[in-house]
Amino acid sequence: MTKSLDDLLDDLGAYLTTPDNACWSLPREAYLDPDLHALEVREIFEKSWLCVGRDEYVPEPGDYYTIDVMGEPVIIVRGTDGRVRALNSVCRHRYMPVVQDRGNTKRFVCPYHAWVYGTDGRLVAAPHMEGSAAFDKKACSLPEYRLDNWMGFLFVNLDDDAEPLQPMMASMEKASVNYRIADQTEIFHYETTWNGNWKLSAENSMEYYHHIGLHADTVGVQMPAKGTYIPESPASDDTFTHERCRMGDAFLGGKAHAMNPVGDLSGMTQEELETGYMVYVFPAFTMAMRPGTNNWLSFRPDGVEKTKVLGGYLVWNEVLADNPDIADQRRDLIAKVNEEDALATTELAKVMRSRKAARGPLSHFEGTVAQFSKYLARTLAADRKPSQATAAE
Ligand code: FES
Ligand SMILES: [Fe+2]
Repeated sequence: MTKSLDDLLDDLGAYLTTPDNACWSLPREAYLDPDLHALEVREIFEKSWLCVGRDEYVPEPGDYYTIDVMGEPVIIVRGTDGRVRALNSVCRHRYMPVVQDRGNTKRFVCPYHAWVYGTDGRLVAAPHMEGSAAFDKKACSLPEYRLDNWMGFLFVNLDDDAEPLQPMMASMEKASVNYRIADQTEIFHYETTWNGNWKLSAENSMEYYHHIGLHADTVGVQMPAKGTYIPESPASDDTFTHERCRMGDAFLGGKAHAMNPVGDLSGMTQEELETGYMVYVFPAFTMAMRPGTNNWLSFRPDGVEKTKVLGGYLVWNEVLADNPDIADQRRDLIAKVNEEDALATTELAKVMRSRKAARGPLSHFEGTVAQFSKYLARTLAADRKPSQATAAE
């Protein structure tokens, strides 16, 4: 490794004064350096709202699933009172996880000594504890994490003092209002680990330029990379970045494609009907939308060179009602596109340690990637002065 953390923060700081169309990709060390990774975990992932799934994963009272959120063992559970909570799964007796996997229950019974917790986290019974002078049932609830629901997406924040979620989603919500995200249901679920740094996954998920290569035979047929453009940014907003890609002429003329707009399109603008719209909410949540559909992903680093990927494909409820087989019709294509996207992390990671690997200039179709680097710079390196090694070295 040739760059220190200090060098990397200087490199990041330089993005703040470099125009988007003059930016380069990040230095390769940014995807490999354990110190930068530790800083990202501390300053980004342990303080930000992270998407951990969908409200519909826990439709009934008592439904739960467990998920690792940056090393924290979390139970997402819809209480018997109907409220969805994020509970810490560690027993308040001697640390056994009280539940694993997923299911439906009225109570969590710890498998070690059978302490019993309600779905709201309160301890309701603890056998043979009456002889303990230290035991106070009320003081032994499972701790709760911050959880909020945005348009059916569940977000957790490990920082109890974090700013609320909804204001952070407000401008993106306004920009995507016609896509009616709250009216969507997941018909395809995607959950895996990609070998490679989370920023590789993030960057790939915010640009249409790679439709020319990775997706040349799938979504690139319908939305060729040359149709890419960056819409006007909402005034002084730094919560997200976005990009559009216009469908090829034949498809605008009505040619059939499995990913053409579906459903009640009466609320969409002409621009929305003719384009794909990709929004990336910092730090790690993305939606690639068409009228009627939404391919979303959420990333969580698992060490420097592994990324946990959670995602799915949503369609408007009316589309699913009118076409109950839509999941079968689209499954192969959606899976193929996601596997193509996986390569944009895994193949890069394999060669990133090459001593000759060097950063390169970004296309004007990758203004979103420049914006992402600026987000990293604002968050991690705001105090840095631009150095010799600029974002356009
Ligand atoms: S560790 Fe859970 S009851 Fe003992
Ligand atoms: Fe892609």
